[in-house]
Amino acid sequence: MRINVVGTGYLGAVHAVCMAHLGHEVCGYDTDEAKIAALAAGESPFYEPEFEELLTEVLETGRLRFTTDPAEAVSGAAVHFVCVGTPQQAGSNAADVRYVDAAVSTIAAHADTPGLVVGKSTVPVGTAQRLSGELAASRAAELLELAWNPEFLREGKAIQDTLHPDRLIFGVTSEAAEKTLHQVYARLIERGTPHLTTDLATAEMVKVAANSFLATKISFINAMAEVCELVNADVVTLGRALGYDERIGRKFLNAGLGFGGGCLPKDIRAFSARAGELGASDSLTFLHEVDKINVRRREKAVQVATAMVGGDCLGKSIAVLGAAFKPNSDDVRDSPALNVAAAMHLKGADVRVHDPRAIANAKAMFPTLTYCDTAEDACRNVDLIVLATEWDEYCSIDPVAFRSVVRQPRLLDTRNAIDRDYWVGAGWYVYALGRGAMAPAEG
Ligand code: UDX
Repeated sequence: MRINVVGTGYLGAVHAVCMAHLGHEVCGYDTDEAKIAALAAGESPFYEPEFEELLTEVLETGRLRFTTDPAEAVSGAAVHFVCVGTPQQAGSNAADVRYVDAAVSTIAAHADTPGLVVGKSTVPVGTAQRLSGELAASRAAELLELAWNPEFLREGKAIQDTLHPDRLIFGVTSEAAEKTLHQVYARLIERGTPHLTTDLATAEMVKVAANSFLATKISFINAMAEVCELVNADVVTLGRALGYDERIGRKFLNAGLGFGGGCLPKDIRAFSARAGELGASDSLTFLHEVDKINVRRREKAVQVATAMVGGDCLGKSIAVLGAAFKPNSDDVRDSPALNVAAAMHLKGADVRVHDPRAIANAKAMFPTLTYCDTAEDACRNVDLIVLATEWDEYCSIDPVAFRSVVRQPRLLDTRNAIDRDYWVGAGWYVYALGRGAMAPAEG
């Protein structure tokens, strides 16, 4: 099947590569020439495990190509995936859908064969219906139809999530559109992947509701962490205990510094803003609380770090391990780790940041922090280590060897990632968010 993927950012590039891997003939289109040149040369513009290997592999088959020419991308394609970004609007919580609008207009302007336009971007509910009307009024009304097929991929697991999704959602308005989507995903459906056919609005809702639920689950356990800290209870044990209840489940109950990244924070805000427009603000008021709990965890981390260096950051040296919003990613958008690092820097600390992959992106966002090539270098002579992103390499640091690296053996574990007893046994004073402080035995 001839497939056109509009937008080769994170979502689009991964989708294009995976569609070609599944056997389709794919063209990836973007207006960004540097991005297209890199992808065509087999180089990934971002860090994502397995991505570059699969890109190289499918480029060699000849089934995948990239272009900045819209006519070349659109002409002859049977399916056009819309994978462009929907960032938060400046000065508002609402989503900016101008790139989605532009993508659909481009497809309508160049279509020369019958095709299905399939939205994958996360959009305000009702956008698909509007775009469907716009296509019907365009020059390509007789050729194009709209469907919505939301994407649930996680950064760091994007290839796995695309090739082995938990479910496929087909928001359609005709049997022909449903059939086309079945053909696109035939190999996944044959393998038994659950798939649901819905109307356009329900398909849009599935995405925003899923992200809202995940964000709520994280903020729920972080709200419990706030209470645990007051009564000397242990939120890690609490999460484990709750998780045994199959109705609750263990996943996404890791208390810590909360959620960040390019999706959850902006998506829950955009969903609330959309609910307001629809006259349903009350239905999503709780998402505002979810957001507030999330932001409070960052403030708490800064408060605890300040107390751990004696109540004043000025003149203190603090290592922050991790800059990406989560491990196995180089994405620093709304990164809790970087936010905490920047806040301590503002309070006068010399903040030394390390991350295995995200230093270049972090530097571009917060150029005034000190960036180090190794975790050991970041921790040299510091008064405190803040573990802010749970990369494997930080979880396997040897606390015995690291004692001689730092000035003061103090660790703030904001992700509940290290073996606290082991570190304390090695002479460290450890504070874990939602678990409180633990000091080494005297003597
Ligand atoms: C998310 C959704 O999971 C995905 O389905 C959607 O398509 C896009 O948004 P992603 O942003 O890649 O994916 O990351 P995710 O793994 O969901 O983590 C989001 C944030 O929550 C990270 O900052 C992570 O550190 C944090 N998190 C996650 C927690 O704080 N606790 C948890 O238990 C789980």
